[in-house]
Amino acid sequence: MSVYLDHNATSPMHPEVIEAMMPYLQNPVGNPSSLHSYGRMARSAVESARAEVAQLLGCDSAAVIFTSGGTEANNLLLKGYVDHASRRPIISSEIEHSAVLEPLKQLQAEGMNVVLLKPNPQGQVDLEAARSLVTGADAQLLSILYANNETGVIQPVEALAAMVDRDVCLVHSDATQAIGKIPFDLSQLPIDAVSFSAHKLGGPQGVGALVINRKPRQALISGGDQENRRRGGTENVAGIVGLGKAAQIARLEITHKQQYLLQLRESFEARLTAIPGSVIFGQGVPRLPNTTFFALPYYHGETLLMELDRAGFALSSGSACHSMVTEPSHVLKAMGVDDTLALNAIRVSFGMDNSLQDAEQLAAKLQELVDRLPPVIRQAAG
Ligand SMILES: Cc1ncc(COP(=O)(O)O)c(C=O)c1O
Repeated sequence: MSVYLDHNATSPMHPEVIEAMMPYLQNPVGNPSSLHSYGRMARSAVESARAEVAQLLGCDSAAVIFTSGGTEANNLLLKGYVDHASRRPIISSEIEHSAVLEPLKQLQAEGMNVVLLKPNPQGQVDLEAARSLVTGADAQLLSILYANNETGVIQPVEALAAMVDRDVCLVHSDATQAIGKIPFDLSQLPIDAVSFSAHKLGGPQGVGALVINRKPRQALISGGDQENRRRGGTENVAGIVGLGKAAQIARLEITHKQQYLLQLRESFEARLTAIPGSVIFGQGVPRLPNTTFFALPYYHGETLLMELDRAGFALSSGSACHSMVTEPSHVLKAMGVDDTLALNAIRVSFGMDNSLQDAEQLAAKLQELVDRLPPVIRQAAG
């Protein structure tokens, strides 16, 4: 099996998460809305998980709305909480995940006023440029991702939140990549709503949450009374239990995890920077401890990825393939990186199942590929 180095895409489930979920997969599991003993057991499991999530995030349990993941959480926020009839703007950024950008496009197509802030060349939303657009704009919503999934760059959410009137403007952050990797305490942050996903922190895929202490104007999914009428449908009990366990582990391990991941990243980056011409995007500004987004100028990203895959390393590129055409990352484009370099981008995202040796061996393999790749691959970047 390959060494898995793509934890920002999804992370393997923690063994204790699997153990916690097992009884809810193997045995008869009641519907949490049922009054009999099975139902009561399921309800109690869901509420314990809610309390764990609330403890990790420093919020009330009542604020936690379980969803199918980060995408649904963002959609619920953007479609359920904004005033569609209002001309008051929604302010977000060009470097959001598609789970924010796509619903924003829909809102824009419906006539809403959406303003997207630009990043600076380091990949942080540019505060100077933002000031004139945000201050006095009478925005109804400010939605800024906490840490970018590609670069890992942590965004100046607090400084941006200080530019709006929080009595009338909701501040939301898509913290899908941050939660579980860096400390995140809502009681200390000027943020009213947060989206995140279990599978980025060692929980199962297909479950996440929107955390917000208000009722939506309308539910995104209407049906039963579940989640206090904010999200209808029978709860994903096993998934929610898994999310609760992952949240508990993240709370207990966060300091150690942060230090451990940083050690791997620093070891890798020290070796990477020894390769002539290597570029690390977002270097020099605060980044997630596990993420390196980099490019080697004369080596096409997808080609290197295939070589690395063959050599037993699983990583992601920074480009998206649409209709057989490879496009550079929208994040790098917004940062002003030229398309040729952007098409070479590769993302390494470490996890707790990686060792220092994995980081060293990956860097050594890159060096070896650079030394030995045939000229045709060198030309591919041209
Ligand atoms: C920043 C960010 N937001 C949202 C999502 C979507 O999460 P999910 O796949 O759980 O819907 C992701 C997933 O990569 C992400 O990185």
